[in-house]
Order: sequence, then structure tokens, then C-alpha cells
Amino acid sequence: MRFQFLSALSSVAIVTVTASWTKNINYRSPSEHHPSLGISIHKVVKRNDPTSPWDPAKLHFTHGVASGDPYPESVILWTRVSPTSDNDHSNVTVSGYAKLFNHDTEEYVSVSKAPVCVEYKIACDEELAEVADSGTVYTSSDVDYTVKVEAKNLKPFTTYYYQFNVCKSDNKSPLGRTKTTPKADDDITKVSLAVYSCANFPFGFFNAYGNSVRKDSVDYVIHLGDYIYEYANGEYGWGQSIDRIPLPDKEIFSLYDYRKRIATYRTDLDLLASHQQFAWIPVWDDHEVADNTWRDGSAELNNTEDSFVRDGGVSVDQRKMHAVRAYFEWMPIRQVDMDDNLRIWRSFSIGKLVDLVMLDTRQYDRSITDLYWNTDYIHSISNDASRSLMGPRQESWFYNTLSASAERGATWRLIGSQIVFSHTNLSLGLGDENPLNYDAWDGYQVNRNRTLAMLYDNAIGNNIFLAGDSHASWVSDLVWLGEKPYDSATGEGSIGVEFAGSGVTSPSPAGANVTLDKANAFAQWIVAANPEIHWQDMYYRGYYELHIGHDELEAQFFGLPTVVSRNGWEIPIANFTVRSGENRLARPVAGGVVESGSLKGGKVEQGNVTVDTRNGTWFVSHADLAVL
Ligand SMILES: *[C@@H]1O[C@H](CO)[C@@H](O)[C@H](O)[C@H]1NC(C)=O
Ligand SMILES: *[C@@H]1O[C@H](CO)[C@@H](O)[C@H](O)[C@H]1NC(C)=O
Ligand SMILES: *[C@@H]1O[C@H](CO)[C@@H](O)[C@H](O)[C@H]1NC(C)=O
Ligand SMILES: *[C@@H]1O[C@H](CO)[C@@H](O)[C@H](O)[C@H]1NC(C)=O
Ligand SMILES: *[C@@H]1O[C@H](CO)[C@@H](O)[C@H](O)[C@H]1NC(C)=O
Ligand SMILES: *[C@@H]1O[C@H](CO)[C@@H](O)[C@H](O)[C@H]1NC(C)=O
Ligand SMILES: *[C@@H]1O[C@H](CO)[C@@H](O)[C@H](O)[C@H]1NC(C)=O
Ligand SMILES: *[C@@H]1O[C@H](CO)[C@@H](O)[C@H](O)[C@H]1NC(C)=O
Repeated sequence: MRFQFLSALSSVAIVTVTASWTKNINYRSPSEHHPSLGISIHKVVKRNDPTSPWDPAKLHFTHGVASGDPYPESVILWTRVSPTSDNDHSNVTVSGYAKLFNHDTEEYVSVSKAPVCVEYKIACDEELAEVADSGTVYTSSDVDYTVKVEAKNLKPFTTYYYQFNVCKSDNKSPLGRTKTTPKADDDITKVSLAVYSCANFPFGFFNAYGNSVRKDSVDYVIHLGDYIYEYANGEYGWGQSIDRIPLPDKEIFSLYDYRKRIATYRTDLDLLASHQQFAWIPVWDDHEVADNTWRDGSAELNNTEDSFVRDGGVSVDQRKMHAVRAYFEWMPIRQVDMDDNLRIWRSFSIGKLVDLVMLDTRQYDRSITDLYWNTDYIHSISNDASRSLMGPRQESWFYNTLSASAERGATWRLIGSQIVFSHTNLSLGLGDENPLNYDAWDGYQVNRNRTLAMLYDNAIGNNIFLAGDSHASWVSDLVWLGEKPYDSATGEGSIGVEFAGSGVTSPSPAGANVTLDKANAFAQWIVAANPEIHWQDMYYRGYYELHIGHDELEAQFFGLPTVVSRNGWEIPIANFTVRSGENRLARPVAGGVVESGSLKGGKVEQGNVTVDTRNGTWFVSHADLAVL
């Protein structure tokens, strides 16, 4: 607001100068219309002294490049160019200088806060000869030296290469690759996506991200959240034993903490490679802020004075704003509504083939969730008619987006949810009084009912829910148990399919070091107890790919034999087909055979399962282990 006011009253010359400042979208987000949340650009501009620019040799592209939120004519490009690899301590800055920690001398040093000038180029060729767009942009300590620009003038469904450099110098970023989406009315025949969630740094290497790069098997990467975790290593993980301590080495609360944590994750070579090669479409889950977040708190954070003191003076709202701000700075994501700084729910049209709806079931406006001490209470209200996962504004947008998608005739509707949608009885026959995960859609049954009513009442088909969060794989027909008849054998009565994927490294819900036999026994119980769940796997960390055409959609699930070393090993564990118009998994489900977990009415053929000790790492190997 302040900036717009300034430019409206200023001379043409100032407008031109400031244009390249606002080109760095991070100066505007998380909200340009809330001055306390945005950056005062005219103050940043004042610190710029064109007569003494930065020595390019003192600046470094510290965390590679990234791209995301592709549209037919534009895409978001990201990099970070900084005098040090440390992050900005903006809450302890002295006027004109940022304080950075020098790891060599182990002391804080003051660094000039003069803005850094960066140029960028995007082209159809790797030599960057056929330039489609280019520009000059500034960054500074105010935004942790991150740069986020929207490259424009692009052609739909086209691969591009891009690069940043310090102005007027040869100091260049790595070369990135990205891809625009087709126009909504383009009749494309195929698109492929890799779907990820739940990457916990101290639990292992992000091999899963690297595998789709090594195969070059997809057009875009979808991330359903838990891109980082907020814990101290000692609290959750074995980072010591694999030399992966997430910094700062404590639970995170401040803006600096969140910046530092994302920056630490962004040193993983496979994550860097994925960002460099693919356009990402991410949303956050809970751990981008804290465990089991909802509108007014999280598992470890009550909205009380006690919590405030324990967390070093950081309230629920402040912590969320720190997390959100760092997320917008570091992720190649668009902010679709500058007046709504918490909004990341948004949608993408991928030709006539797909509408991708990315939800925020977590931070935006979720009613109270299971915080561990209140499980019985949440159970008792889980079917209360007032509960919402999304809040009314997002919910009505969601339903309108679904009808608009059906009206425009897009073949498939893909719905990216963080948490598992399907009813899932986890009692394992133990007579547990709380057999559901009340932190998932099961704790918000009426919101699920409204979603299903919307789909059934309007006969909207070809709905594919995507979920993460659970660290295990669950494949189900999309059904409304107790309301619409459903035949588990044929799939009749179903209105779509849910593919919920395992984590990149986050441990199995059956226990971090669960054995294959024990994990498969859990899977068998779950598949038997839940009519709509057709396949479940508790053992493997991994991801899945969707290969989508007009006639059918194929999901391929990959299991990672071990993540305690960096490697390109993976096992194709199960494949599923959904035919257009059928609204259920094609029978026999998974072709009747999977390699792991439990398949309803089908076989598990693990092939030649052996114990492998390749490169000093112990893991269960299969006959068709791929070494990528
Ligand atoms: C600033 O953030 C640091 C963590 O980086 C924290 O230790 C410190 O207490 C904060 N200072 C103020 C004044 O908020
Ligand atoms: C939050 O409040 C509940 C109920 O009073 C209590 O059991 C729990 O320990 C509190 N948690 C924290 C982190 O203060
Ligand atoms: C879960 O399954 C158990 C055992 O089959 C059953 O007793 C219980 O009623 C089920 N609960 C729910 C909520 O589905
Ligand atoms: C949601 O639908 C289920 C199945 O019909 C029903 O048991 C439940 O009461 C519904 N919840 C609400 C709040 O309408
Ligand atoms: C589980 O495996 C990890 C990684 O190999 C190891 O560091 C940890 O000690 C194991 N935990 C147990 C309880 O065996
Ligand atoms: C899944 O499909 C892939 C690619 O066609 C194939 O290599 C793999 O063996 C299949 N896996 C299973 C479990 O059917
Ligand atoms: C199983 O795999 C091991 C190690 O790869 C190999 O030595 C053995 O011959 C295989 N056995 C069968 C029956 O294929
Ligand atoms: C095993 O380690 C060596 C050396 O570290 C490496 O060159 C090789 O690629 C690794 N093998 C596999 C299968 O990852």
C-alpha cells in the first residue's frame, strides 16, 4: 500500500526505478496491503548507493535456483544471492546493517544492508540465446537475500531454461529448467506429475526427490507439505548418526529460525536438483509451522501466557507469521491474493485434461484439531455440523472451483489435500476407543460430507484426491460410507479415487524401524477392516507418479529401500489405473499383484527379497530394485 501510494504520487523517473524493486515479489509478500507485514520498499531504495555497488566476488548464489506455480505464459523463478550463507536476523538488526553469523569465526558480523542487484534471463535453449524474458531486480537482507520474480511472455506447455547473475558480472547462478502449463483450452494428450510429502531432514536423505530427476519422468512436481519440520534434532530424528542436523539445532520459533531451517533443508543435493529441474506446485501442511496446527494453535502451543513464556515470547500468531513469511521468501510460489497473507489455496488448469486444486486444510482456518491431550473431546465433536478444515471462504471457493471445472469439461479433477480424505479405521482390532485419525478428514466429517454431497449431487466425476501427511501409502475408492451404497468388489457407488503417498523420509506410523513383516501385518489388518481401502503399505518411504491421459490415469508408487545414505535406489511397489468415467480403481486393482503392503483380493509378490548391505547400508532388497 505504502509503495503504491508513493509511486502514484511520484514522477515517472521514480516509477521506472521502483519497477525493478517491486519485481522481487518477496518485497510485497506476505502482504503488500498490510504495511506491518510487508517491506517498506522506499526505505530499501534509500539504502542503495549506485556509486558503490557490491563487489560481485563477495556475493554467492547460496541455495541454487527454483521455479514454480507455472501458468501458460509465466512462471515463478527463485534464487538467493547473499554475502554469506547464513540467514538474516531481522529482529536484531541495527540501522543500515544486517547481523549475520560467521561460522568460521563463530561470531556475528555486520554486513552492509545495501541492496544487491541481480539480472535474470529465461530462454528456450540451454545456451540462453533465444531469450523470452529478462530483467533487473534487487534483493537485500530484508527478505533474507531471496529473489522471486515472475518470468513472463512465455509460450504454453514449453520447457525453458533460466539463470540469474549479479548485475554486470559473470557471477552466475546454476542453470535452471522449468516448464509452463498448457492453456486451459489446449487439447494436450498427456501430463505427468510426481507427488511428494513429509521430508524430515534428520531422518534421512531426500533420495525420493532426486529419483524423478534422474529418470526425468515428469512434467511438474506436486508437494503436499511437511517440506520442513520444526523440531530440534534431539526431539525427533537421528541426525547425529547421519550428519544431518537441522539448524538451528533447537525447536524453531523466530523468523530467523524458520529461514535457517528451510535453508538447511535446501542443502540436500536431491532437493536442490529437483528444484533446479522441475517447476514445483507446493502447499504447506502443519510442520511448516508446527505439529498439528489449526487456526489458533498447535499441539505444542496453546494460545496462553504459559505457552508464550515457554516459547521465548512468541505467540501463536507471531510464530505463524514468521513461518509464513519465511515460506513465501523461500518457496517458488505465487501469492494469489495479496490481501490475504495466509492464502496459499489456489488452482491450476492443465489444458483440457486436468484441473489441479491445491487446498490448505491446515493453517488457514481449521477448527480445533487433535492436540493429543484432547483426543476424546475431538472424537466427541468429530461429527459436529460446525466443523471445517478450510473455513467458509476456502470451502465455497473449493466447491465453486469443482463445479467450474466440471462445467468447462476438464477431464480430471485432482485435489491436493494435505491429510488423508478417506475414512480410515486404525483400531487394528484392539478395540481402541479412538480408532480414527482425528487430525485428518475423519475429525471433520461434516466437511467431508459437504465435499461428497457436492460431487454426488452434481454428478461431478473423475475426482482424484491426493494426500500426504501420514508417512504411509493408502489407495482407496472415494466413497460416502453410510450414505451412498458402495460395492467393494466392483467399486460401484464410488465417485473417484484417493492416492495417499508415503513420506520422503518421515518414519512409518508403525514405528521408525518397523520390520517388513510387522509392517505388512498392519497393512493386512487395515485393508481387511476398511471396505474402500484397496492397497496399503506401511513399510516404504517414497513417492508416486501420476501419468495422466484423457482415457486413463496411471499411478505408480515407488518405495525407497533405505534413506540413511544418499542413493538412487527404488522399487516399483504398486501400479493403479483409473479409467475415465469409471470413478473407481480399475479391476483387478493393481493388476492383482503388488510388491509390498497388502492388496485387497490380490497378491503380494515381493520377488526375491534379500538383505542387502550395499555400500555399508542395510536394507531389504527386491529382485527389481532399480539403481538410478
Ligand atoms: C531474535 O531472534 C533470536 C533467534 O534468532 C532470538 O534468540 C532473540 O531472542 C530474538 N530477539 C528479539 C529481541 O526478539
Ligand atoms: C495446553 O493446554 C492443555 C490443557 O490445559 C494442557 O494439557 C497442555 O499440556 C498444554 N500444552 C502446552 C504445550 O502448554
Ligand atoms: C473400527 O473397527 C473396529 C473393529 O472392526 C470396530 O469395532 C469399530 O466399530 C470401528 N470403528 C469405526 C469408527 O469405524
Ligand atoms: C456425515 O455423513 C455420515 C454418513 O451419512 C453421517 O453418519 C454423519 O452423521 C454425517 N454428518 C453430519 C454432520 O451430517
Ligand atoms: C533405527 O534406525 C536408525 C537409522 O539406521 C538408527 O540410527 C536408530 O538407532 C534405530 N533405532 C532403533 C531403536 O533401533
Ligand atoms: C509398475 O509399472 C512399472 C512401469 O511400467 C513396471 O516397471 C513395474 O514392474 C510395475 N510394478 C508392479 C508392482 O506392477
Ligand atoms: C536372490 O538374490 C540374490 C542376491 O541378489 C541372488 O544371489 C540369488 O541368486 C537370488 N535368488 C533367486 C532365487 O533368484
Ligand atoms: C557405492 O559407493 C560408491 C563410492 O561411494 C559409489 O561410487 C557407488 O555409486 C555407490 N553404489 C551405489 C549403488 O549407490
